[in-house]
Amino acid sequence: MTLAETCPTIRRIGVLTGGGDCPGLNAVIRAVAMDALSCGIEVVGVEDGYLGLIENRLRPIGDRDLVGILNRGGTILGSNNKSNPSAFVVGKNPPPPMGDGKPILKDVTPKCLDNLRQHGVEALVIIGGDGTLTSAATFNRLGVPTVGVPKTIDNDIVGTEITFGFQTAVAVAADAMDRCRTTADSHHRAMVVEVMGRNAGWIALHSGVAAGADVILLPEIPFDMTSIWQKIIHRSKRGRKSTLICVAEGAKPKGGQQFVGKIDPTSPDPIRLGGVGKWLADEIETQTGIEARYVVLGHVQRGGTPTAGDRVLSTILGNHAMTLLRQGKVGRMVAVQGGKLTDIDLEEPAGKQRLVTMDDPVVHAARAVGTCFGD
Ligand code: F6P
Repeated sequence: MTLAETCPTIRRIGVLTGGGDCPGLNAVIRAVAMDALSCGIEVVGVEDGYLGLIENRLRPIGDRDLVGILNRGGTILGSNNKSNPSAFVVGKNPPPPMGDGKPILKDVTPKCLDNLRQHGVEALVIIGGDGTLTSAATFNRLGVPTVGVPKTIDNDIVGTEITFGFQTAVAVAADAMDRCRTTADSHHRAMVVEVMGRNAGWIALHSGVAAGADVILLPEIPFDMTSIWQKIIHRSKRGRKSTLICVAEGAKPKGGQQFVGKIDPTSPDPIRLGGVGKWLADEIETQTGIEARYVVLGHVQRGGTPTAGDRVLSTILGNHAMTLLRQGKVGRMVAVQGGKLTDIDLEEPAGKQRLVTMDDPVVHAARAVGTCFGD
């Protein structure tokens, strides 16, 4: 069969990266676009996620755009985590007593469909997290053949056991913790490192285990402060030079609330977590008398070069997305299950989160090497 026969109908596809960025996005764009171009399918890139689709900012992607991007962080297309086409912020109500001060939302999906038609885009590859993929499913339902590629450093998308970006975030966080350990040892301190992950503890769990953190605190296991003091004091009495505590931004004390760093009312998911690291370090110092410091790794985990593992994962996921499109198997999200490449219904991950479970082998192994989870 010739290449033209394997991709008979689609003449032009659109590629969009939505939500928070992560390392490996460019590697997916490259895999998708190189495959398409090699089949004679034209590629159009949508700038800045759904915002660019709403504002009609689409541009052709050619061979030259793909040179040198495999290992480049971020996304050459730009991204946006505030623009949901079904509920797009078009203004703001006046503050009380005149109004409720809330954003005014409008469904601008028809405008997006017009813009796609105008650019002759016949199918979409949408790379994003749960919010972006939920909108991707809408476009597919409205007749634009769409395949989704799951992305997030948080690794919390339902239906796939790994997302690209995660391995890089874990490597960055583990490296940072190795560095925190040596300075904490010198000063006999407790060192708290706050990592990202939203409501899921995957980054904290994996980076904490990789760095040999003595305490790992996950959103999935509300922590008891007493067990943390006991661990720190016990280590100090046994002559351990320092205690390394890896805390997920979404972790919370038993009976308490998550720490909110910022609320962005213009975002479909307005809560930005943050602050637990500082709070914990202050509490540790007060309760144990042992000097404590904290570090918030933040967006360092999301930026920069993807690891080799993430480049490979991004490439195979992007390639599978194109294979599905060429086979006419649309409304699917590419996924990894049981270590194998597969695909699931694009509607499946909508509004859900994949969290760490207590029977996870990494949790078991961490407990076996003496890690305290604060429970
Ligand atoms: O979902 C990815 C993520 O980096 C989370 O880990 C974090 O809570 C959030 O995005 C931060 O969002 P923003 O870039 O809008 O501050």
